[in-house]
Amino acid sequence: MAILPDHIGLDFGNHSVKGVQLRNIDRSPQLVAFASQPTPLGVINSEEEQHKESLADALKTLMNEGHFRTKNVVAALPESSIFTRFLEFPGVKEDELEDAVHWQAKQVVPIPLEDVKISSIILGRDESKNSYHVLLVAAPNKLIDIYVSVLEKAKLVPVALETEAIATGRALYRSSGTKDAVIMDFGSQSTDMGILVGGNLVFSQSISVGSDALTRAISSEFSFEYSQAEEYKRNYGLDTTQLEGKIFNCLKPVTDSIIAEIRRGVEYYKNRTMLAPPSEYILVGDGALLPGLTDYLAKELSAKVMLGDPWPNILMSKQQESIISRGRAAYTVAVGLALKSE
Ligand SMILES: Nc1ncnc2c1ncn2[C@@H]1O[C@H](COP(=O)(O)OP(=O)(O)OP(=O)(O)O)[C@@H](O)[C@H]1O
Ligand SMILES: [Mg+2]
Repeated sequence: MAILPDHIGLDFGNHSVKGVQLRNIDRSPQLVAFASQPTPLGVINSEEEQHKESLADALKTLMNEGHFRTKNVVAALPESSIFTRFLEFPGVKEDELEDAVHWQAKQVVPIPLEDVKISSIILGRDESKNSYHVLLVAAPNKLIDIYVSVLEKAKLVPVALETEAIATGRALYRSSGTKDAVIMDFGSQSTDMGILVGGNLVFSQSISVGSDALTRAISSEFSFEYSQAEEYKRNYGLDTTQLEGKIFNCLKPVTDSIIAEIRRGVEYYKNRTMLAPPSEYILVGDGALLPGLTDYLAKELSAKVMLGDPWPNILMSKQQESIISRGRAAYTVAVGLALKSE
C-alpha cells in the first residue's frame, strides 16, 4: 500500500467537525495542530449544493482557526452510512479470495454493488479452520462523491477515506495497546458500536440514538430551552446524587434504549462467532463526557467501562495539553485518521 503524505485527520460529525494534524506518526507522533468547528444544521450527507457549500465554509473556518500546515486530508465517512461486515472463508485459497469476497459482497451488501465502493481488509487466518478472516466495507458512491466535493470546495485534497470505527480502533491501539474491547462512540445523532478483537475491528453497528436525544428529553420534561437543557445534561448527567436524581430519572430511559441495542449487538456477535465478546468497554466521542455515564454502563452491563484516551503517546505543548484535557476522548476519530500511515 502507498505511504500517505502528511495530512489532517478530519472527522465529520453532525454536531462538530474535528481536525488533527500530527507529524512523525510512525516513530514518535507529535501534535502539529487541532481544532473543531460546529457543523451547520442538516448539512451532513446532504447532496444539496447549498449544504455542501455551507459545510465547505465551516471547513475553511476550521482550517484558518486551527493553523493546519497541509491541505491533505484523510476523512472518515459517518459510520451510520457505511456497511461493515466481518466474513470468514473456510477452505478458500489465497488466489481465490478476491472472487470469494466479491461473491459474498453480492449476498450481504444491501445496496447494488455498482452503487458502492467495496474495500476488503484481510484480517488474518484461522489455521485451525483453514479460514481467512476478512473485513468487508461498502461505502455508497454517492456519499463518497459528496465528501470529495465538499473537500474540494474547501480547497482541500482528499488523500484517503475510511470509516470512523476503523480510525477509532487505530487510535486506541496506538495510545494504549487496546486489542480487545467494545468501543462505543457517543455522538450527537447516533451511538456507534465497534467490537475490536486481536486489534481488528470485527463488528460495527450504528445505533440511531445519540446524545442530542438526552438534551431533548430534559428540554421536554422540564420545559427548558434547548441550551438550558444542554447545560443541565452536561452538569448533572446520570449522577443520581444531583437534584434528587431528577435529571438521572429523565435521562435513564433514553440511555437504557442505547444499552438495549448494545446488548443486542453483543448477542449478535456471540451467535455469529460462538466467541465470548470482549469484557472491556471504551467510550469515546463528546457524548461520552456525560457525568455518571461510565459508572452507569459498568453497572448495567456488568463490565469494565472506561473513557478512551487517544493522546498518551502523542507529544504536545503545555498549552495544547491544557485544551485537550477538557475532554480527552473527544478527538479519538480524528487522531486515528491522523495516525493512518498507508
Ligand atoms: N461535556 C459533555 N457532557 C455530555 N455531553 C456532551 C458534552 N460535550 C458535548 N456533549 C454532547 O456530545 C454530542 C456531540 O458529540 P460529538 O461531537 O462526538 O458528535 P458528532 O460526532 O458531531 O455527532 P455524530 O457522531 O452523531 O455525527 C452532543 O450531543 C453534545 O451535547
Ligand atoms: Mg462522531
